Amino acid sequence: MISDVAIWHQLECGSYEADVECWQALAAEFSGPILDVGAGNGRVALMLAALGHKVTALDIDEALLTALTARAEGLTIDTVCADARNFQTGRQFSLIIVPMLTVQLFGGAEARSAFFEAAAPQLSPGGCLALAIADLLEDEDGAAGGESLEADSCTIGSVGYSTRAVALRQRDGQIGIERRREITAPGGSLTVQAATDWIDIVTPEQLEAEAAAAGFTVAPRRQIPATADYIGSAVICLNA
Ligand SMILES: C[S@@+](CC[C@H](N)C(=O)[O-])C[C@H]1O[C@@H](n2cnc3c(N)ncnc32)[C@H](O)[C@@H]1O
Repeated sequence: MISDVAIWHQLECGSYEADVECWQALAAEFSGPILDVGAGNGRVALMLAALGHKVTALDIDEALLTALTARAEGLTIDTVCADARNFQTGRQFSLIIVPMLTVQLFGGAEARSAFFEAAAPQLSPGGCLALAIADLLEDEDGAAGGESLEADSCTIGSVGYSTRAVALRQRDGQIGIERRREITAPGGSLTVQAATDWIDIVTPEQLEAEAAAAGFTVAPRRQIPATADYIGSAVICLNA
């Protein structure tokens, strides 16, 4: 049975497609094993594995990795349940990707530095570490961080799930995306939950400076275009 955390994750992250081309291009360029950090239920990891890449999916949330494995349908994907700020796979990867603002969930500069320290020895010589970040402060229309303004809904069994970003909040160094989540039980009774994801504000320049201080060489950035529903992102590319 699919967990609630996996249902909300699929509704809130699953329809994002604007970055697919970027990850496909990087995977083709840096051929070899790929580590997807913050893989969630496998939106990117499964897509790359289906193209024939050898992918390891890392996430802090076991329930999401269980959902990823359930969605793999014959694809072989290794999963690692670990905190990206302190992880050890015992392997090296030619490409480490951190899609969809995941690095902005780590909790500030010190946490990002811990991630860079953990990731460096797990990147093959000549490999690439690529991290997607959005400039949340430029998000004037409220569609923060790849969040759709429309409600995303599904029905599982006879239970209805619906989620919508309703407000942006700001606090010291972070933007909060507040969502209204609704669960409609078979008899029609409605449960409403509020959920806020706090996302670190960090610019491409800051992230590149932090990575350089951790010993990475900064390579040219790539860009993920904005769409009607999603703001664009910069992809910071780093070499070992
Ligand atoms: C915005 S979602 C992105 C999911 C997926 N990569 C995608 O692009 O659809 C962020 C993911 O990062 C994971 N995550 C957040 N903090 C993490 C940490 N410290 N270590 C590992 N994973 C983390 C969350 O559990 C979640 O699955």
